Amino acid sequence: MTTAPPGTQLRQLTFGFMPAYVVRAAAQLGIVDAFAGVPRPAKEVAAELGLPVDSTRRLLRALTALGLFAEQQDDHFEVLPEADLLGREHPASVQAIVAMFTDPLMTRGWEELATAVRTGHTTFDDIFGQPFFDQLAEEPVKSALFNASMSEATRGVAATAPSAYDFGRFTSVLDIGGGDGTLLTAILQANPNLRGAVLDSAEGAAQAPARYAEAGLTDRATVVTGDFFDAIPDGYDLHLIKSIIHDWSDDRCEQILRLSRAAIPADGRLVIVEPILPDRAEPGLRPGLYLSDLNMLVNVGGRERTRADFDALLQRSGFSLTAIHALPPEVGFWLIEATPV
Ligand SMILES: C[S@@+](CC[C@H](N)C(=O)[O-])C[C@H]1O[C@@H](n2cnc3c(N)ncnc32)[C@H](O)[C@@H]1O
Repeated sequence: MTTAPPGTQLRQLTFGFMPAYVVRAAAQLGIVDAFAGVPRPAKEVAAELGLPVDSTRRLLRALTALGLFAEQQDDHFEVLPEADLLGREHPASVQAIVAMFTDPLMTRGWEELATAVRTGHTTFDDIFGQPFFDQLAEEPVKSALFNASMSEATRGVAATAPSAYDFGRFTSVLDIGGGDGTLLTAILQANPNLRGAVLDSAEGAAQAPARYAEAGLTDRATVVTGDFFDAIPDGYDLHLIKSIIHDWSDDRCEQILRLSRAAIPADGRLVIVEPILPDRAEPGLRPGLYLSDLNMLVNVGGRERTRADFDALLQRSGFSLTAIHALPPEVGFWLIEATPV
């Protein structure tokens, strides 16, 4: 048995940004779509995309070395199943996640992680001169990409949450910061008695009407355009809030949650949909959650939270934490139910 020399792990971690850019380039260039599901020679793919053959073949070989493609005889390359998910039309596509999370809008703040750790400050704001969501509001194309990436990232929750919680006992659901309505659509489809709305900014909810129409839900699903720091409408006995709390500091979260508390009827519920950090970073934990925590630090000024953090936040906002339902481990999210007190 050979042992890796000292420094191997650190070298792998250090060079870890390079595969991300290989995948980014493949997504940007539409490499997978150009294969149209069959093995093809590099020169044919290059010609179709209007690219130089040599650099295209080098990219294909790097993708092969990373386990995403296979190289056959006669210059032919084959897309392996995982790489298929870079195709725009694949039902499980992660194309938008790849494009968004390797975009300078996401990566620039990370370049100044040491500053963020030193100061506790959100480096995105210094680099771009304004907070993340204000910047997105000025860039409609990026905003649509961000919304698509959130939809892709919500797919697992949307597929599993409807059977993990009794949504059917409510009459109306408001998904606070619900984006393009991916989660709301899944819940309404599974509960024909329920109606609902997403509350989001105009650009955040821009794609929701199309999603409702595609799902045949235009009679039960609407969009409420607004700022969740200013007003949360009443008339909904279930408030959902997924991947919003982790975007903000405790004080900012309390602002949102107090508005929610004021709008929820006494027998209503709030369900926070987020990952839950363990109390300690024990050996063997998957690093994704801790990297997401730092992503919140550098880009939006939020954080991932432990159960005790959620408990404290809910208490100071007029709720008590009444139940926690775990979604399947591979989904990595929990439904944290809170009752108004
Ligand atoms: C991290 S995304 C989560 C989207 C969706 N809930 C999901 O999990 O896929 C955050 C959402 O909050 C919305 N948002 C940010 N600031 C907002 C504000 N002040 N008022 C309303 N929506 C806001 C964004 O437009 C975006 O849709």
